[in-house]
Amino acid sequence: MNIWTELKKPFFVLAPMDDVTDTVFRCVIADTAKPDLFFTEFANADGLQSAGRIAVLQKLKFTGAEKPLIAQLWGMKPENYVKTTKELVKMGFSGVDLNMGCPVRNVVKLGACSALINNHELSNELVEATQEGAGGKIPVSVKTRVGFGEVDLGWIEFLLQQNLAALTIHGRTAKQQSKVPNDWKLIGKIRKMRDEIAPETLIIGNGDVLTRKQGEELAKKHGLDGIMIGRGIFQDPYVFSKDSPWKQMEIEEKINLYKKHIQLFKQEWGDKKNPAGLKKFAKVYISGFDGANEFRTKLMDCNNTKAMLEVLRSK
Ligand SMILES: Cc1cc2nc3c(=O)[nH]c(=O)nc-3n(C[C@H](O)[C@H](O)[C@H](O)COP(=O)(O)O)c2cc1C
Repeated sequence: MNIWTELKKPFFVLAPMDDVTDTVFRCVIADTAKPDLFFTEFANADGLQSAGRIAVLQKLKFTGAEKPLIAQLWGMKPENYVKTTKELVKMGFSGVDLNMGCPVRNVVKLGACSALINNHELSNELVEATQEGAGGKIPVSVKTRVGFGEVDLGWIEFLLQQNLAALTIHGRTAKQQSKVPNDWKLIGKIRKMRDEIAPETLIIGNGDVLTRKQGEELAKKHGLDGIMIGRGIFQDPYVFSKDSPWKQMEIEEKINLYKKHIQLFKQEWGDKKNPAGLKKFAKVYISGFDGANEFRTKLMDCNNTKAMLEVLRSK
């Protein structure tokens, strides 16, 4: 089954964000305004097939609430992609996506993620290994950028020849990180290339989308199959809703949502994950009222989930 083709267009996808979109946050978003499709954080296939397996498995945890869910992989060894993808099929993922866009120095140094833009040979091996592991049971897709140092349509052409179910394009080069505006015109051009080279491959546009309406307009203007939203979720946890209530919501309701997030974290991870990661969500839920800054500072001083919940209850 190919989940991508079952989605009504334009569909909306929650972007993979490492240390952000874990099973807990995805459950929160499944309850506020659910996207059509979720992605996991990027999980290292080489790590999963090594002694570091347990830590990587955390990134692949999910509940029924977050379906349909695509597992995203990164790594360097094709044989580990075969093994891992076979496992993903058994675990019940709806698809597997290869990260060929992350520009973070640590991964680029290894030759992984966005560094693959300059290594077609290995990229092809990784895609074929994943397709072998998937055995036609789940679709294989890629998420990438428009080039490494500069725009590189040869890279896109190469990817369009890989028989992918879907291709997500973030409209910046790796070198640009997030420093320049996202190039939607270029994403539109890539969609036209798709029409010529690989009509079956769906194109998902990604970068700087802050509302569903904006996403719908961009999809229409550039003929895209779907839109992926990442950081927009920090400004509005209801970003996938047609009519977001977020701006009108009382601060008390926002705090209640944060409490729910923390409680779910506690239930899911106990002591297995550092609760400091929860603090990065403070700005999402605690903003837009007098004294929000001071209130957030109090949360930053907390060392555990219990203390965070106590501060939130004190409001
Ligand atoms: C904190 C953070 C973590 C990210 N982790 C991943 C990741 O694991 N895999 C991936 O493909 N992209 C990752 N990204 C990139 C996003 O998926 C997305 O492509 C990027 O943020 C641009 O979209 P946006 O403007 O809607 O946020 C990450 C981005 C952020 C901000």
